[in-house]
Amino acid sequence: MEKIELGEWSVSVSRWDRAWQPQMESLFCQGNGYLGVRCAVDEPVPGQKRDTFIAGTYDSCFGEVSELPNLPDVMGKEITIDGELLQLNGRNHEDYCAMLHLENGLVERHFTYRTEQGKQVKVKMERFVSLKNRHLLMQRLSLILEEPAELEIRTGINGQVSNSGAQHFTEGTRHCVPGEREELSFQAWDSGVRFAAACAPRLTAGSYRASIDMDRRRIGTHYHISGEKGEEIVLENAAAFYTSRDAEYWDGESPFADTPFKETACGKHKSLSIVEDANALAAEAAKAGFDHSLKESGEAWQRYWDLHDIRIDSDEVFDSCAARFALYHLRIMTPVHDERMNIGAKGLSGEAYKCHTFWDTEMFLFSSWLYTEPEVARRLLRYRYLTLPKAKEKAAQYGCEGALFPWESAWITDGEVTPSEGAPDVVTGKPIPIYTGTQEIHVNADIAYAVHRYFEATDDTAFMEACGYEMILETALYWASRAEWNEERKQYDIHGVIGPDEYSEHVSNNAYTNYMASWNINEALRILEMLRQAGKADLLEELEKKTGAVSREVWMKDRAEKLALPKPDSRGIIPQDEAFLNLPELDLTPFKKGGRKILESFNVEQLCGYQVLKQADVVMLLSSMPDLFPEDIILKNYQYYEARCVHDSSLSFNVHSMTAARLGMTEESFRLFRKAAGVDLNGGLSSAEGIHAAAMGGIWQCIVLGFAGLSVKDGRPAMEPHLPESWRSVSFSFVWKGERFEITADHEEVRYGKTGGCSKGLRPVGVTDEPGA
Ligand code: BGC
Repeated sequence: MEKIELGEWSVSVSRWDRAWQPQMESLFCQGNGYLGVRCAVDEPVPGQKRDTFIAGTYDSCFGEVSELPNLPDVMGKEITIDGELLQLNGRNHEDYCAMLHLENGLVERHFTYRTEQGKQVKVKMERFVSLKNRHLLMQRLSLILEEPAELEIRTGINGQVSNSGAQHFTEGTRHCVPGEREELSFQAWDSGVRFAAACAPRLTAGSYRASIDMDRRRIGTHYHISGEKGEEIVLENAAAFYTSRDAEYWDGESPFADTPFKETACGKHKSLSIVEDANALAAEAAKAGFDHSLKESGEAWQRYWDLHDIRIDSDEVFDSCAARFALYHLRIMTPVHDERMNIGAKGLSGEAYKCHTFWDTEMFLFSSWLYTEPEVARRLLRYRYLTLPKAKEKAAQYGCEGALFPWESAWITDGEVTPSEGAPDVVTGKPIPIYTGTQEIHVNADIAYAVHRYFEATDDTAFMEACGYEMILETALYWASRAEWNEERKQYDIHGVIGPDEYSEHVSNNAYTNYMASWNINEALRILEMLRQAGKADLLEELEKKTGAVSREVWMKDRAEKLALPKPDSRGIIPQDEAFLNLPELDLTPFKKGGRKILESFNVEQLCGYQVLKQADVVMLLSSMPDLFPEDIILKNYQYYEARCVHDSSLSFNVHSMTAARLGMTEESFRLFRKAAGVDLNGGLSSAEGIHAAAMGGIWQCIVLGFAGLSVKDGRPAMEPHLPESWRSVSFSFVWKGERFEITADHEEVRYGKTGGCSKGLRPVGVTDEPGA
């Protein structure tokens, strides 16, 4: 979509095109980590997806895997002018502009509409989801009539929604005082979660009447307005959502003594009724008005930007905008308010992947929080801890010890929710069978690794003692019991897995999986030894009671010592798995050039027979554990696997870009960064289903860990920047062991200073170990 225009703080389009709408709905999605609203435009457009989600409210529809139900829509408006429905086409309007303001999350559209009878109306539509009060959405519609006209506006709460046909709700209460308040409550069939939506519309117009508009699963106000020449008609709509799963109303126990769930809740909470609270908030916000709530939300956004903004000094606006676009989405997709939930693969911006959580969180999104707001990183890990009982059940189900975290995760007690089939298979004409739920087990070590990185950056012993040690021990026990003895080779193998590259299924000894598993077991052993040395007998006893790992130490050690770890071959290439390097090659030119998708020509089963990668795999390993191999091996593997990777996943370009940057291949790295940053911003068709959450974290990682070269060496942060030629400098903030540093890197040096302006200093290019020293 070359039509997207980027500014330092904005993303916009200046032409209406129905074909772009699905992508725009995702890109312009609004939210606050609790609520997520796809930016389907106010007026009806055929094919639009009017999705509204609330994090964590998973429900299963008649035996299907859990998903976030699509909630009733409060943003849709039906406007008629002299009986003609306002609907854009290529001929009936001019001066079109739709803009997402990244600094405060406001979306604004305006255009001049011409009716078939030739009447002109200036239309402006604005909306935002509050970052101040997470239950609140605000919307404003302004119509300026150039000639008198009879208008009708229908506004309200429309529960006639589904998730691609799956209906999640029973009908609840409906109540409307037209032009004053609208209320709809409903309940999810399977989970029993109750929801309340309330709207308070306020119309400013000379002459109008308002009547009730009620139908099955729908409630609203129908305005009839006699508009004067030159009159501006303004409709403000305050909408509020509450659910019985919100921490304030939930009666589940928190295992965390330090912050019980209810204390993590914010926002006003006046009664024990979600319906009353929704009504009260909508009425309050309507009274205060759109501008007031926007200002408050804008202040909350400012606080976010103060901590997270990345400033790229360059003449090319694309890179700055991509960084802020990523940061904007990172914020609106992350449930920072509640550790019972995590981030979905599409955030809250679309139904794809059913808003499930993947390894994307720990390996792509985690760093951006860990090094800017570690408290949020901690919450993301505590979500995993809450799913530990289910992970233990999953391990036991496969006859293993310890815990195996689900490949796809939803509500904390749902366990594994990976569906068994997916997209169409071009060969069989049936849905592709999905094996990731049973085979893509590397997620277990990814989570353990994130726990380790969290501790390394924060020294949060309380977290480790309450959750972290247990998570590392349980995952290690799983790996040790999953490995199978190979008498011939005198080693332990891990068979039947899928590594990060999902075009290689049912493989043995995937390098990424095995190295991560080996790290995981060794880390468990190191922890046990460290606790023993520190004389933590009570803690060890407690951990033994919970996990049984202390008495399995020798057994784990044996596995750790003899686990198969694929070594570089004579060319220096690390085999992705046992079979990979012996498979035939495929000419990937048509697919690497873009345009043609490999899955339109082959099915996954066929691709498994070639040296073709969907996404970074060995390179993922080398990027996550850069100290495993010397630089020449990293380079050889980067080149080998880059040539064979079609980057069919949004989790790929950024990993290759970061690795190339660290190798000093700045031009190559920048080329890949532009691809990574363009996954959504260049308007690829796959964005229609929602933005690519991991790609947003990937943009952050490319900039901070790739170009700026931030890494942790021997437990201390270091920087070795390789900035793209067109960047003069890049600045960002970085938190290490409770202290925040402002860092600026340019082509000559790295400057850093503690927040507050003290101890600013200059460092020559290369490693600076000052933070945390
Ligand atoms: C990728 C996975 C990823 C998932 C969700 C898949 O296409 O292959 O690595 O976790 O999408 O983003």
